[in-house]
Amino acid sequence: MSRLTVVGAGYVGLVTVACMAELGHHIVAMDVDADKVELLRKGGVPIHEPGLTDLIAKHRERIEFTTDHAHAYRSGEFIFLCVDTPPTASGDADLSRIWQAIDNLPPDEVEHVIVTKSTVPVGTGALVKAELDQRGYRHITYASNPEFLREGTAIADFMHADRVVVGADDPAVAASVAALYQGIDSPVLTTDVASAEMIKYASNAFLATKISFINEIANVCEATGADVTVVAKGMGMDRRIGPHFLQAGIGYGGSCFPKDVSALKQLAGNSGYHFQLLNAVIEVNELQKRRVIGKLKRHLGEELRGKRISLLGLAFKPNTDDIRQASSIILASRLLAEGAHVVGFDPVATPNMRALLPAVTYAASAMEALEEADACVLVTEWSEFLELDWASVKKTMAQPIVIDGRNALDGPALAQLGFIYEGIGTRSVG
Ligand code: UGA
Repeated sequence: MSRLTVVGAGYVGLVTVACMAELGHHIVAMDVDADKVELLRKGGVPIHEPGLTDLIAKHRERIEFTTDHAHAYRSGEFIFLCVDTPPTASGDADLSRIWQAIDNLPPDEVEHVIVTKSTVPVGTGALVKAELDQRGYRHITYASNPEFLREGTAIADFMHADRVVVGADDPAVAASVAALYQGIDSPVLTTDVASAEMIKYASNAFLATKISFINEIANVCEATGADVTVVAKGMGMDRRIGPHFLQAGIGYGGSCFPKDVSALKQLAGNSGYHFQLLNAVIEVNELQKRRVIGKLKRHLGEELRGKRISLLGLAFKPNTDDIRQASSIILASRLLAEGAHVVGFDPVATPNMRALLPAVTYAASAMEALEEADACVLVTEWSEFLELDWASVKKTMAQPIVIDGRNALDGPALAQLGFIYEGIGTRSVG
C-alpha cells in the first residue's frame, strides 16, 4: 500500500481520497481552505455526493486532512493534483492552482510522482515537466491520470471505472500509478502524457456533442410530429451509437461539459485549428436552455409578467447540490427578466441558488413551490418529483400546465389527470 498526497479537497479530490483509502492507501489531503479542512477533520463533508461521507468515515484512520502543504507534500510518494481549473474570461482553463502546487513542492531529494487528475489542456504535463527540470527536481516524475467521474455517482464511477487512463513518458512511472488502482476491476490504458490529457477533453466533448445532437433532433421532432424519446431508443439500439447520453432536455450544465468543451475549442484555436463542430455544440446548448420560455408563452400568452412559474429542481442534475452552469440559472434569470414570479425548489441545491439568485422565491417543498402556480417546469429530474402526488398538485396549481424539461414524467398519465403536458421533442398532451 502506498502513501498518497491529494492536493485539493473538492469533488475530484475528496472522491479520490475516499476511494484510494478504500483501496488500502494512506492519504494526506491538503486544501488551502482552513474552514473546509476543519469541517473534514470533524467528520463533515462540504459537498453532497452519495456515499462519500460514509466512505471517508469508514477509513478515517487512514486519512489526514491538513492545510500544511509542506507536510502534505513530504508525506506522499504520489502527489495527486485535484485542484480546479476553472474557465478564464477567454474560455481557456485557469492553471494558476496547478502552478501554485508546483511552486509549493519541497526542494528536498525525496522521490515523488506528481499525478494530475485535474482537467488540464493538452501540453500542460509537458510544461510542468519542463518546469521541474528547470528547477533541477529530477527526483520528481510526472503522470497524467484524468478522471471520468460523474457527480452523483462518483464513487461507483471510481470503483467500477470503464477505464483507468495513465499517461507517462516513463513506462515504470505509468506502471507505478496503474498499480495504485489494484483492487478495482477496470482495464488500464497506459499512454503518453499528451494523449491522456486529450482523452479527457475528447471524451467530455463527445458526450456533450451527443447531447446537443439529440437536442437538435428533439427540436426537429417537435416541428415534424416525431417523438424524440422513441427516436433515441431506436438510435441507441444500434451498438455503434449506444443508448447513453441521448436524453433530450433543456441542455447540459455542470462544472465539466461547458468548461471542457470551451477549453477544447480554445485549445484547438490556440493551435491554429478552427473546431467548427464545438461551436455548434455550445450554441445549441445555450439556445436549448431558453426554449422553455417559448413553450411557456405558447400556453400562458406572450406576457409572462406577474405569472407564477414554479421550477422543480435547480441543481444541474439530480443527486448533487452543484448549480454550476445549471440550466435553471438561465431559465430563472430569463423568467425574472420577463417579470414572472419565479418560485424554485430543490432537495439540496436551494442554498447555493439562493446565494446566486436572491430574486427567486425559494419554497421549502415541491408542493409549496407549486401552490397557485400558473405553470410548472421540471428542470432537474430528482426522483422525488417523479413520485409527487400529481392529483394533489393539480388541485394546488392555479393552471395545470407542466413543461417537462427532462422528459422524465409520465405525460399521458398527467394528461389523464387533466394537465396540459409538454416535454422536449415529444408530442404535447392534454
Ligand atoms: C461529466 C462526465 O459525464 C464525466 O465522465 C466526467 O468525469 C465529468 O463530467 C468531469 O469532467 O469531471 P458530470 O458533469 O458530473 O460528468 O455529469 P453528467 O452526468 O455527465 O451530466 C452532465 C449534464 O448533461 C447534466 O446537466 C445532465 O442533465 C446532462 N445530460 C446528460 C443530458 O442533458 N442528457 C443526457 O443524455 C445526459
